[in-house]
This record gives sequence, structure tokens and C-alpha cells, in this order.
Amino acid sequence: MTDHHEMTPTTVKDFLLALLGGLAAPLLTIILIVGLVVGIQARQTDDDPADASDKAVRARIQSVGMSMAIDPSKPHVDLTGEQVYTDICSACHGSGALGSPKFKDTAAWGKRLGQGYDTLLLHALTGIRKMPARGGEPDLTDLEVARAMVYMANAGGAKFEATLKKEVEPTAADLARGKMIYAQNCASCHDTGMTGAQKLTDPAWAGLIKQGKDYLYGAAINGTFGGPARGGNDKLTDAEAKAAVDYMVNEAKTTLAKK
Ligand code: HEC
Ligand code: HEC
Repeated sequence: MTDHHEMTPTTVKDFLLALLGGLAAPLLTIILIVGLVVGIQARQTDDDPADASDKAVRARIQSVGMSMAIDPSKPHVDLTGEQVYTDICSACHGSGALGSPKFKDTAAWGKRLGQGYDTLLLHALTGIRKMPARGGEPDLTDLEVARAMVYMANAGGAKFEATLKKEVEPTAADLARGKMIYAQNCASCHDTGMTGAQKLTDPAWAGLIKQGKDYLYGAAINGTFGGPARGGNDKLTDAEAKAAVDYMVNEAKTTLAKK
């Protein structure tokens, strides 16, 4: 008897929970899709981040991430300095964590600004002491790092402009890393010339190098006619593909210089 009395309410509760559960999944999907569409629209119409609230900036960064997740072939849109700062750099620089110069602390930044734009940018890109390279986010572009660096430096009293005047030359450590990545992912074709891949000794590199690093990075990341995206290894990050290209260009330049 007790069994019977307990059965009924439990069954009703189960039924309601199942019903709710069944509704929740499609509802969540709809909410996500609507959020996405709104996010993408907001990104296309809003160009002035200066007066955007913190919340709006976060929403916009999120929509960039979401739209990239859906369509990775979409061209990359560089984030503003404020967006990169909010998303990445503020984790330390917002509070001065690990001894980092705190945002808007003119005394802390003042001591560093004398090093000049190029050195500060180099340190932001390659890291210095407890400051990780690119703030620990290897997929940030050079321009995004420069913009974030300028955003912080200017709030600390500088009057910089975020430009990438010259290509940042890879360090010996970058090249060593690139060589390893190349050996594992690219050498199978580019050492042998298989499938028409340009060997590093191929004079065609003179023309390729003229097209600029951005072109070559793009070719390595997205693939070219005959060349697979990321050397066919989809786990390779943008930064790793770029490091391999840096190594290839450096080797090719060395060979070309000898001729
Ligand atoms: C994990 C913490 C952390 C994050 C995240 C971080 N930084 Fe730093 N940053 C530091 C620390 C610590 C220092 C001080 C390093 C030192 O001089 O010893 C520093 C210093 C700097 C400096 C001054 C370097 C110099 O030569 O005086 C710049 C510029 C800088 N960071 C830029 C950035 C940018 C741009 C970002 C975001 C893309 C970022 N940081 C994210 C910890 C961080
Ligand atoms: C399966 C063979 C193969 C692998 C592996 C491979 N490539 Fe290639 N790559 C090619 C071919 C073929 C071309 C020539 C495409 C062309 O003629 O445009 C090429 C061309 C390139 C170019 C020049 C772009 C151009 O316009 O020709 C770059 C840069 C490049 N590869 C980078 C890389 C990097 C970096 C890796 C490793 C992460 C890699 N490749 C791995 C086959 C390969």
C-alpha cells in the first residue's frame, strides 16, 4: 500500500522533470542561436569601442570567438587594445599581479616607458621575467599585442601609436622552436619537394619572401594550392605554424645569400 501511495507523486514529478528536461535542450539551443546572431550583428555595426561599456566589450570578444568557432575560414579581425587588455592582460596588469606594472599606475609605467616603444613591444611579444610571451595567449597577432601594450602604456602616461613598423625578427630561440615544428610537420614535403612543395633551397623562396610574412603565415595556416593547412596537422596552433614559417624563411634566406 505504501508503495502505491509513494508511486503516484514520484511518477508525476518524474514526468514533469522529464518534460522540463526535454524542453530545456531545444530552448537552450534557440537562446544560443539568437545570442549568436545578435552578437554578430553587434560586431558588424559597432566600430567605436571607446564609449562601449565593459560588458559590451566582453560581449563583442565573445562573439568574435563564437563566430570563429562556426566559420574558421572567416578572415581574422584584429581586436582593439582595450578588448585584448580586458580579455587577457588585465588578469595581471589590472591588479599588478606578479609585480606587473598596474594599469593607470603612472609611476610604475613611467619607470618602463623610457625603454621606448620597440623594446616594450618586444617584451610584450616575447615575454620578460614573469611576464609571459603575448600575455600567455599565443594566438594573439602582433598587432593585437601592440595595441594592448599601447593601450596600457598610454594609460600610464605614454603617447604611443600602435604600429608594426618593421617585421619583428625571430630570436634564435624562436628559430630553434620553429625548426622542431618544421621537422615534425613540414619536412616530409618541404625537405623532399614532394607534391611540388618548395624545398628550403629552392630559389622560388626569393619571390615568396617578397610577398611578406603575412602572406606566408596565411599560406601555412590556411593552406595553399597543393599545400595543406597547418601541414595537415589540425592540432598545430597559428603561433606554431608561424614559427615554422619563420624558420623556413630564415633557412631560405641563408641559402639565397650564399648564391
Ligand atoms: C600572467 C601575468 C601577466 C599577463 C597576463 C600579462 N602580463 Fe605583462 N607583465 C607581467 C609582469 C609580471 C611584468 C613585469 C615583468 C618584469 O619586468 O619583471 C609585465 C610587464 C609588462 C610590460 C613591461 C615590460 C618592460 O620591459 O618593462 C609590458 C609592455 C607588458 N607587460 C605587456 C603586456 C600585454 C600587452 C599583455 C596582454 C597581451 C600582458 N602584458 C599580460 C605579467 C603579465
Ligand atoms: C603534404 C605536403 C606538405 C606539407 C606536410 C607541408 N607543405 Fe607547405 N607546401 C606544400 C606544397 C605542395 C606547396 C606549394 C603550393 C604552391 O605551389 O602554391 C607548399 C607551400 C608552402 C608555402 C609557400 C606558399 C606558396 O604560396 O606556395 C609555405 C609558407 C608553406 N608551404 C608552409 C608550410 C608549413 C609551415 C608546413 C608545416 C607546418 C608545411 N608547409 C607543410 C606541401 C606541404
